[in-house]
Amino acid sequence: MNKQPTSSRRLNVRGVKTISASRYQQIIAATGVVLVLIIPTGAAVRLTQSGLGCENWPKCTEEAFVPEWGFHAWIEFGNRLISGVIGVIVLAAAFGAYRRVPKRPDLIPWAWGLVVGVIAQVVLGGVTVWVDLHPIFVGAHFLLSIVLIWNALVLWMKGRTDLEPIQETTGVSGTNNQTMVLNLSRAVMFVSTLVLVIGTLVTGTAPNSGDSQAIRLTFDLRLIAQIHSATAWIMVAFIVALGVKLAKSKHMKLVQLLLAFSVLQGGIGYLQYWLGVPPLLVELHVTGSLAVWCTALWLHLTIVEQTPAVRPTTPDLSGRGARAQDLRPQSLEGQAT
Ligand code: HEM
Repeated sequence: MNKQPTSSRRLNVRGVKTISASRYQQIIAATGVVLVLIIPTGAAVRLTQSGLGCENWPKCTEEAFVPEWGFHAWIEFGNRLISGVIGVIVLAAAFGAYRRVPKRPDLIPWAWGLVVGVIAQVVLGGVTVWVDLHPIFVGAHFLLSIVLIWNALVLWMKGRTDLEPIQETTGVSGTNNQTMVLNLSRAVMFVSTLVLVIGTLVTGTAPNSGDSQAIRLTFDLRLIAQIHSATAWIMVAFIVALGVKLAKSKHMKLVQLLLAFSVLQGGIGYLQYWLGVPPLLVELHVTGSLAVWCTALWLHLTIVEQTPAVRPTTPDLSGRGARAQDLRPQSLEGQAT
C-alpha cells in the first residue's frame, strides 16, 4: 500500500528531499515577517543613535559576537541578528523553490529576486555608511526594503494557489466596474508608494539623521512635509473611492483596515510634525507606513488576482498556467515512502 507521509519533508523518486507547498508557504511567510521587522529595528538604530552600539564587525566587540547588556549595543545587535536571519531565510526560499512539490518553476525567479534584493541591500547599506549616511542613500535603503516586501508578498500569493482555490470574482459585477476597481486600486498603490518616497525626503530634511555630522537635504521642512501630507490625503481619497466601488464586496474589510491605518498614520504624522519629530513617534510613523503599504499591496494583489475581465492582460498572479503543466509528471509526493 502507498502510505502517505506525514512529514512536510519527503523524498522524490531520485532520493532528493522535497518540501511540501504548505511548508514552502511557511518559509515565505517567515521571510515576509523578517523583511518587515528589519525596517522598524533599522529605524530604531537611527533614532536612538545606536549605529556604533557594536564597534566591530562581524563580532560586536573585539572579544564577543554577543554584547553585554547595554541599550545601544542591543539595539544594534538586534538589528544585526535580524539581518542574519534574513540572509539565511532568503537562501532557504531560493533553494527551497527547486524542491517544492508540486513543482512551480514560475516561483523560482521570484525566490531569487529576494536573494538579489538582499545582496543589493548589503551593498547599499555599505555605500550608505561610506557616504556618511547621505539621506538619499538612507531613503533608498528604506525603499529597497519595501521592494523586497512586495517581492515576498507576490511570491506568497502565487504559491498559495496550490493550497486554496482563488476566488473567481471580486464581487463587483460588470466589466466597466471591474476595470474601474482595478484602476482605483492601481492609483492607491501608485500614490501610497509616492507617499513613502516623499516621506524619505522629509526624513532626509528633518533632524533625525542617526549621526550629528550627517548631511541633510536642503528642502524647506515645512514645504516638503506639506507635500508629503497632501499626497497622503490624495491616497485617502482614492481609498474612499475604491471603498465606494467595493461597498458590498468581500474586500470591504481590507479597505476599511487600510483606511483606518491611513488615518491613524496621518494623525501620527501631524503629531510628530507639531512636536518636532520626537524619536518615539517617528518610530511609530515608520512602522505605520508599513501597515499602510502592506495592506494596500495585499488588497491590490487580491483584486488583480480576482478580476477575470482583466486577467489576460495583467501579470499572472495566480500562477495557474505554470501549475497546470508542472503537476503532470513531477508530482511524486509520497512515492518513495
Ligand atoms: C498617511 C500616510 C502616510 C504614510 C504612509 C507616511 C509615510 C512616511 C514615511 C515612509 C516616512 C519616512 C520614514 C523613513 O525614511 O525612515 C515618513 C516621514 C515623515 N512623515 Fe509621513 N506618512 C504619512 C502621512 C504623514 C502626514 C499626514 C504627516 C503630517 C505632516 C507626515 C509627517 C512626516 C514627517 C514629519 C516625517 C519625517 C520624520 C523623521 O524621520 O524625522 N506623514 N512618512
